[in-house]
Amino acid sequence: MKVTFYGHSCFGIETSGIHLLFDPFVSHNELASGIKVDDIPADFILASHGHWDHVADLVPIAQRTGATVVGVWEIHAWAEKQELKTHPMNTGGSWDFDFGKLTLVNAVHTSSFPDGSYAGNPVGFVLDLKEGKTMYYAGDTALHMDMQLIARRYKLDYAFLPIGGNFTMDVQDAVLAAEFVNCKHIIGMHYDTFGYIKIEHDAAQKQFADAGRKLTLMDIGSTMEL
Ligand code: NI
Ligand code: MN
Repeated sequence: MKVTFYGHSCFGIETSGIHLLFDPFVSHNELASGIKVDDIPADFILASHGHWDHVADLVPIAQRTGATVVGVWEIHAWAEKQELKTHPMNTGGSWDFDFGKLTLVNAVHTSSFPDGSYAGNPVGFVLDLKEGKTMYYAGDTALHMDMQLIARRYKLDYAFLPIGGNFTMDVQDAVLAAEFVNCKHIIGMHYDTFGYIKIEHDAAQKQFADAGRKLTLMDIGSTMEL
């Protein structure tokens, strides 16, 4: 799988020739000013919840690419109203897509659309990819005990965890989350974008290393092969 970081919690993942895009928030992110939103590819857009810093660029990207928007029922209803292609799901549900099996899992957070309307419950995503890798994208969440259920069912290769604190888990909580989901390689997200969530990169990586785990902090616009 090829992972591209577009800043904040927005990642593109290319797997089995399919482009997945998570939580598109780019054009309002000063740190991502080097990214051209019009160049971002997407076959599926996975939306963890309705907050502005996760859906701000969703509609234009979905309109341009014809991507299918995947999320909870309320995300589906909102996207469908804007005449986007959708696949409605809900927490605990799985579906076999061409890229692999996707499961929506619990996230502890809130969720509303930028206009304040109800966006259902926030979720995380577990992807059991056809290419043989398994990953967890936590979305915005607090540390919670249900994360342990993921390790009961899946052997994760990678976990994308929020680490910025204030709105989500901080680094210390994310180290515990990595233990709960039993994953060695963590990709950090939801940090540095706003004043409230600025972190010390070296200190964060040391905290994970001290716990026997690896924290990757990708440069915005960079791509890595996993
Ligand atoms: Ni949020
Ligand atoms: Mn957020």
